[in-house]
Formats: sequence, structure tokens, C-alpha cells
Amino acid sequence: MSTVAGASRAARRTPPAEYPIAAIRRDFPILSRKVHGKPLVYLDNAATTQKPRAVMDAESEMYSRFYANIHRGVHLLSVEATDAYEQAREKTQRFVNAAESREIVFVRGTTEAINLVAQTYGRHRVGPGDEVLISHLEHHSNIVPWQILCEEKGAHLRVAPINTAGEIVLEEFERLLSPRTKIVSVSHVSNALGSVNPVRAIVGLAHAKNIPVLVDGAQAAPRMPVDVQDLDCDFYAFSGHKMYGPTGVGVLYGKTRHLEAMPPYQGGGDMIRSVTFAKTTYNVLPYKFEAGTPNIAGAIGLAAAIDYLGAIGIQRIAAHEGDLLAEATGKLQAIPGVSIIGTAREKVGVVSFVLEGVHPHDIGTVLDREGIAVRTGHHCAQPVMEFYGIPATARASFGLYNTREEVDALVSGIHKVIGMFK
Ligand SMILES: Cc1ncc(COP(=O)(O)O)c(C=O)c1O
Repeated sequence: MSTVAGASRAARRTPPAEYPIAAIRRDFPILSRKVHGKPLVYLDNAATTQKPRAVMDAESEMYSRFYANIHRGVHLLSVEATDAYEQAREKTQRFVNAAESREIVFVRGTTEAINLVAQTYGRHRVGPGDEVLISHLEHHSNIVPWQILCEEKGAHLRVAPINTAGEIVLEEFERLLSPRTKIVSVSHVSNALGSVNPVRAIVGLAHAKNIPVLVDGAQAAPRMPVDVQDLDCDFYAFSGHKMYGPTGVGVLYGKTRHLEAMPPYQGGGDMIRSVTFAKTTYNVLPYKFEAGTPNIAGAIGLAAAIDYLGAIGIQRIAAHEGDLLAEATGKLQAIPGVSIIGTAREKVGVVSFVLEGVHPHDIGTVLDREGIAVRTGHHCAQPVMEFYGIPATARASFGLYNTREEVDALVSGIHKVIGMFK
């Protein structure tokens, strides 16, 4: 059987390692299906990624062999399920280089992780007249939770501006850090444009004023090595489904001292130490933030996804996607009428573009008939679209299994769109 793990073992014996694209593609059953009679070209990876067999097998094996609820049972199945769930936490800890496994809280996804911080840390620390600082590049899930908090507390949401390339203007960001700023929350990578934000510099500037920083890593975790200790961020949020893992599971990393000081998010089973009608005391980290039965199978599937990424090597994935980005950027730019939206100096595998005189939804519909899946719309980042004065873009986003031939298919598809609409 050809698997990436097998290919990477072989590659270690015969350097320099070729990127094992054919073996990788065989690991993803969905990639062999046809769409409208054409081979699927899946370029919607920023929305969600497809799953390798290893992830599906990990979940299925659990349900077939050792499924039970965790943390509460003395019977063997419960012990085995608990072990697998906690091993998934340790694997996630190593994946982002957190100092301790109790700094890893399993949640539903990035959205829940950000809401958790807004509703616990935020509610505890933000008062009337205080400020929360985000950037103009954020996904709605890194805007709305802070708006809800600010509205409730009589606080103000401040927004660091971007330049026309789609980069955060650091001097302006620094100027907006005020004595009233209680938290900064910025994305590591913009989902709408692919810009890589200078989060280490942002953390440095904020920490110089004792302001904690949450980094939304939804788009970074599958695309680049993440080291939360090196970034020195206070919180880091990401989603399993965007990194080849299951839906419904994600991660909030938080520094121990913050998580210890924060009140719980939701109340229920597992997050308590003792309950009486008079008083409840809370469990230790990270369980204080994991009320109720968690997504046990999801965490185990996420661990399998982390293993899968590790077997290829996240640096090699980044290099592969970087090649696809360069290829796509060059070829799309050369098409008359195409404008690429977002030209940051540091970018990863996301290309947003518009075609003069054609609505992005029409681009998406024609490409779909060719078997090519791209996203069209505002990408849950309406303020970014507003900044560029456009309602929507078409967005091709690359994953570890995409190929140069698929970039060519996209380019041919766009020529077809032009033929139909012009
Ligand atoms: C940058 C960014 N942040 C947050 C999210 C929300 O992630 P989820 O829907 O998995 O909670 C997304 C999803 O597209 C994203 O791209």
C-alpha cells in the first residue's frame, strides 16, 4: 500500500526527497471522484480540507474497538478511550510546541475558541471605556465575538488598518495600542487574501505594553510550522477541519497563567471538582474549559491528521503550496481582465481574484461545471471586501494534495469563463 508515511520513510533513505504527490493523492479517496463528469479539482481548502484515509480510519477504529465515554469510567473501554483522547492532547501540544498539555483545550473550532476567550478572559478584564484591538483583515469569527463583548461592556472595538497589498500597517497598529487596550486579537494568516501577518512583531509590541494577544491560526496551522512559545502569544486558536482532520473539533491554546485566572466558559459535567447546591468548585486545567462530553472521536481524528502532516513534513507542505501559489499568481496575472486581490509580500496558498465584467458567482458556477471547486463571495470577511470596494472575489486556495496540473485546469477554466461572458 502506498502511503505518505511509507513514502516519507523511503524518502529519508534516498535524499533529496521528492514531494510524494502521487502517494499523497491516493491517501484521499474523494480526490478520485468526478464532478459533472470531470475529475475533481478541489481548490477550496481555506474553507475546509479533504480527509486522508488515516483520519477516517482513526475515528472508525475507535468506534469499532474502544468507544466509551471518557474520564468517568473504570471499565476498560473507558480507560482506552480516555488514553487515546489524552494522547491526542499531547500530540496537539507537540504540534504547536506548547509548554504543557494542560494548555491545550479541545473546543469545536476556531470560532468557539475565540468566543471562549471573549466570554471568559474578555468578560473578566474588559470594562466600560476599555478597548479591544483587532485588524481590518479578520474573519467574522474574530470580529463578532469582540463586538458582542464590547457592546455588553460599553467598551470600544479598534481596528488596525491595512495597506492596499493587504498587509497590516504595523506603525498604525502600534499607535492604536493604548492604556485602555485590554486584548489584541489578530489572524496569523488572512483567509480572504492569504496574507501572513507579522504576529511575532505584533506580540512584541503588545507585550511591551502588557497587553495579551490572541492569534487566530485557522489558516496557519495547516500551512506553516506553529510554535506558540516562539511567538509568545497568549492564546492561539485553530480548527481540525482545516488541517485535514474532522469537523467539530478545534483547539484553544492558552498560557497556563491566563487559563488559571479565567472563569469557566460553560458549566456542566467534567468541568467540576465538587458540586453542592451551595457551591461548586472547578476542575483543574484544561478540564475546567471542557464541560460535557467532548468530541472524543474528533480529537482522535485530529491526532491522526497531525501525524499525517508530520509524516510529510509541514515545511515541505509549505514549500509545495508556495510553488503552487507562485505558479497560479503568475498565470492568473497574465490573463487580461484578471486582478489579484491581496498582494502581500508574505503570502501563503490563497489567491483571491476578480475578473472584469464578470461576477465572482458566475466564475464559480462555470468552474464548477469543469469540476473545479473554488469559493466565491465575501469569505466571511466583509470588511476586507469593503476595503477593496468589491462585493466578492473568487478564491482558489491550495492544499497539500493539489498539483500544477490543477493550477492549469483553473487557468483554462477562467479562459472558458471569459469566452462565455465577453
Ligand atoms: C482566519 C479564520 N478564522 C476563523 C475561521 C473560523 O473557523 P471555524 O469555522 O472552523 O470555527 C476561519 C474559517 O474560515 C478562518 O479562515
